[in-house]
Amino acid sequence: MTETPAIRIDNLSKTFGRRRKRIEAVKRVTLEIPVGQVYGFLGPNGAGKTTTIRMMLDLIRPTEGDVRIFGRHVRREHDVLRRVGAIVEGATFYNFLSGRRNLEVLARTANDLNPKRVDALLEQVGLAHRAGQRVKGYSTGMKQRLGLAAALLSDPDLLILDEPTNGLDPEGMHEIRQFIRSLADDHGKTIFLSSHLLGEVEQVCDRVAIINLGEIVREGMVSDLLEGKARLRVEASPLDRAAAVLGEYWAVSSNGQWLTIDATREDAPHLVRRLVEQGVDVYQVVSQRQSLEEFFLSVVREEAGRRD
Ligand SMILES: Nc1ncnc2c1ncn2[C@@H]1O[C@H](COP(=O)(O)OP(=O)(O)OP(=O)(O)O)[C@@H](O)[C@H]1O
Ligand SMILES: [Mg+2]
Repeated sequence: MTETPAIRIDNLSKTFGRRRKRIEAVKRVTLEIPVGQVYGFLGPNGAGKTTTIRMMLDLIRPTEGDVRIFGRHVRREHDVLRRVGAIVEGATFYNFLSGRRNLEVLARTANDLNPKRVDALLEQVGLAHRAGQRVKGYSTGMKQRLGLAAALLSDPDLLILDEPTNGLDPEGMHEIRQFIRSLADDHGKTIFLSSHLLGEVEQVCDRVAIINLGEIVREGMVSDLLEGKARLRVEASPLDRAAAVLGEYWAVSSNGQWLTIDATREDAPHLVRRLVEQGVDVYQVVSQRQSLEEFFLSVVREEAGRRD
């Protein structure tokens, strides 16, 4: 028997407004997030990330489709959201209270106050030294850390984080990234996080979905999406001679204008030397090794092209 996924999203859509003001923010999104993974939800501004997350948390009603968390419908079996901690865009705190006080108030509201846990969380998110100060004086990054601590207060099995590293400096991002990873690796939590910072996601997520204009355009393990993406593209003349020369060392394919070589960036100097030695003129050698970022951009552009 396969394990019930942490999140199952079926044919989820959300349309805002009517008539000419109609915006299809989310279109027939279907996703399954296994337990214990860090799952990235990637997309440019306005792609529909926050809207999807709000429907996952039953903060807004879907136009169509549904969301199940640990096998339960969030709309019909709202209780399941007790197993979820979340940061959603624009989470607010009491500005005149300290960070610690805010967490204590939240914990008390949830009938679950354990002062030791509040302190441990403040420590874990790197806010212990500022916990006694009013939230009013916090930077964006500090508020983000406090948000993460708040999301973890009830020791949830699933964390849903909308842009959790927004406003953090590179060091802070690294820290939070490691923290998120350890929540999954050492504590078996499932984390669903949205981001448009792809370098980030590439480093922390097991699996990603790319959303653009409300639609999922790619989904898969980060490693699979990027697999086989290390290539060199060569423009040279005469092309067939270049293909013959390089064919002795690497797998080569030609589209009549350039060659695609199964070689890495590190091979480039060697490759160029071989061609020049054989009297081939080299115009361009481009490394096609993609980061998730390049992959993402190429996917988004491809989709835009398809619409034109
Ligand atoms: N309450 C609303 N009323 C009308 N339109 C909305 C509403 N909420 C979101 N939208 C629209 O839905 C689309 C998706 O917005 P959403 O906030 O989900 O994007 P996002 O992927 O979270 O973007 P960002 O990276 O900027 O946070 C946008 O076109 C947005 O303008
Ligand atoms: Mg958003």
